[in-house]
Amino acid sequence: MDGRGSDTSDEAVVVLLPAGRVHRTRRGAVLIEAIREAGLPLASACDARGLCARCAVEVPFADPPLAPERDWEREARRRNRIPDGLRLACALRVRGTIHVRARYW
Ligand code: FES
Repeated sequence: MDGRGSDTSDEAVVVLLPAGRVHRTRRGAVLIEAIREAGLPLASACDARGLCARCAVEVPFADPPLAPERDWEREARRRNRIPDGLRLACALRVRGTIHVRARYW
């Protein structure tokens, strides 16, 4: 697997940018947990409860595509002055292949 596209197994793939490092995890894993499994830091001040928006990441590619941002995600992001276009890693599950970039990696 090259980090693009998905297969039919229970495996999911997180590609950590900008290095392009590939981390394999279980399909359905919460993204913030998968990133931490991969050994990269991801900020959180709310114990991944969708309140602080510190876990916001850029997701330039996802297969299958991400579900639209929910109202509570958008509110948490705006309340914490996180720009449009970023997503909360504690609110996303890895369902196939996802490419992720944090501002401080
Ligand atoms: S960890 Fe706080 S909103 Fe995601």
